[in-house]
Amino acid sequence: MKTTFFINSLLAICLVITSCSNAQTNTLIPQPVSIQINKNKSYRLSNPIIISGNTNEAKKEAEYLGNKLRPATGFSYQVVTHGDIELNINDKKDATLGDEGYTLNVTKDGVTINANTSAGLFYGIQTLLQLLPKEIESTTTKYANWVIPEATITDYPRFAWRGLMLDVSRHFMSKEDVKTYIDLMSRYKYNIFHWHLTDDHGWRIEIKSYPKLTTVGACRVPRTGKFGELEPPKDGEQATDCGYYTQEDIKEVVAYAAERHIQIMPEIDVPGHSAAAIAAYPELSCTKDPKSYVSPGNKFSKWEGNGNFSMIIDNSLNPSDENTYKFLDAVYGEVAALFPYPYIHMGGDECYHGYWHKDAGCQQLMQKEGLKDEKELQSYFVKRVEKILTSKGKKLIGWDEILMGGLAPQAAVMSWTGMQGGIEAAKQGHNVVMTPNQNVYIDLPQGDISVEPDALTYGTVRLTNAYNFEPIPEGVDAKYILGGQANLWTEKVPNLRHAEYMTYPRAWALSEVYWSPKEKRNWDNFIPRMEYHMERADIAEVNYARSAYDAIIKPSIENGKLKVEITTEIKGLDIYYTLDGNDATSKSKKYTQPFIVNDNTVFKVITYRGKNVIGKMITLPAAELQKRAKR
Ligand code: ACM
Repeated sequence: MKTTFFINSLLAICLVITSCSNAQTNTLIPQPVSIQINKNKSYRLSNPIIISGNTNEAKKEAEYLGNKLRPATGFSYQVVTHGDIELNINDKKDATLGDEGYTLNVTKDGVTINANTSAGLFYGIQTLLQLLPKEIESTTTKYANWVIPEATITDYPRFAWRGLMLDVSRHFMSKEDVKTYIDLMSRYKYNIFHWHLTDDHGWRIEIKSYPKLTTVGACRVPRTGKFGELEPPKDGEQATDCGYYTQEDIKEVVAYAAERHIQIMPEIDVPGHSAAAIAAYPELSCTKDPKSYVSPGNKFSKWEGNGNFSMIIDNSLNPSDENTYKFLDAVYGEVAALFPYPYIHMGGDECYHGYWHKDAGCQQLMQKEGLKDEKELQSYFVKRVEKILTSKGKKLIGWDEILMGGLAPQAAVMSWTGMQGGIEAAKQGHNVVMTPNQNVYIDLPQGDISVEPDALTYGTVRLTNAYNFEPIPEGVDAKYILGGQANLWTEKVPNLRHAEYMTYPRAWALSEVYWSPKEKRNWDNFIPRMEYHMERADIAEVNYARSAYDAIIKPSIENGKLKVEITTEIKGLDIYYTLDGNDATSKSKKYTQPFIVNDNTVFKVITYRGKNVIGKMITLPAAELQKRAKR
């Protein structure tokens, strides 16, 4: 008891002395629209915690809050009519707050959150949880000074679409892992979980009218090693690496997400990326190859570097066969019944047209419909899919390739190859979600590839690339830009722990891009807040990357000599390096300006904050620097 009192007093003193570590006043991510905070006064939680909700919906949010507060505090909670923490759904709508905004007031006597909707209350609760000491993240009881500083906050999102995409085809994630991923994203006010359920490497959703989609399409031959370079199936080899969600699982995850005000948008990726469906039903492709297989991560495409590519296996549905549309009608029908969200994602990306070009049926259809090339044939296919989705009461969204050959009348575009597809779609009056790979593809490495885990390497998305992303391009009517996402493809992401590493802190940065007012974005101010959230993640045992602390090495050739320039994303770090193969330390040469590197040198670099190592040691032989300089 005495110890608790001592610790609590110490923490109370820390709260008013800004030099105590992390005693910043505003540690929120994402930043709210407006905030006044008085760290000298606070409300203290006491046992039991008395929470009220003024409607049944508000009471549900009160239960959620109570359940979040209980494990770390060890306090019990009660949901009553008038509580110390009041959650109120406004009788009269507050126009400023819209559908997701809230006001939060903390005085020494208690907390009040007001909102027009239960979603608004939920976001207010997330802010409240962030105002509590970081120990609130613990799943076991902690002694902490459970105080919330006096605060007045008004907050609402900049964008209605704030998504994270998770690919469960390349690496299957259990239902429980998916729930954890969803719970984490809800803490940062994301509201759409884009579930990439089908691809060449596995079909992951039970479809009752086409059972082989999961008995065959959800299984591949087992392989370990470098995804993309693995061995294709051998003759007669059993496909024993399986994973899919039953429709009951899907309902459970949809309900779990809804409790966190996250809607799930399913993606059934067609007509390309369909090897798993074709393994189950080869007759759906042009080649109808009975040896079609679910890819275990072998190389089956050839990229020519200019955007052109070819497929060694036929992974495209046949757009000229009515059975394809019968199949899609059944699949999208069952999917539509499982997911309440108005949009279904039909993929549409990276569809190889080579087999269509050689197929007599496709060529006949093109002639009959007056389609001048396979791009227009793809557009014909997308328009048929749109009709199917409309008949199920759903709206179509697809990757920017659905623009090719002409966009379907009501389709929304998810722009991934850059911003251009989105700009073009918005100019045609279509809704757009901006997800350019250069800013939001969180499967790409976030630091120097020599020290990052195996990742796709056609680019790098540093934390600054995510934080500086602006979803509304100049010259485009902002009303068509619904928002944005971060997309996590999982070729190189084998489990949840690694998914977290790839997601955070980039998804913290992007939560601020999608939620906070543009003018509130401030990199230098984000970093200490990010560091505080790293401490919270440590307590919650959530993984994240520290790559933003690493040196950024920029080699170039100048007058025939190899020059190296070094920077860091985070300000105030010191860079030390060696050119003799020894490890770099704070006793090595301090970087002040670009320098010349001779052949046969081994270059090592490290970053420090003050006396402490903060970044990883990066080691690059001169030959590697030369190679990079020439890229
Ligand atoms: C994509 O990255 N192929 C949408």
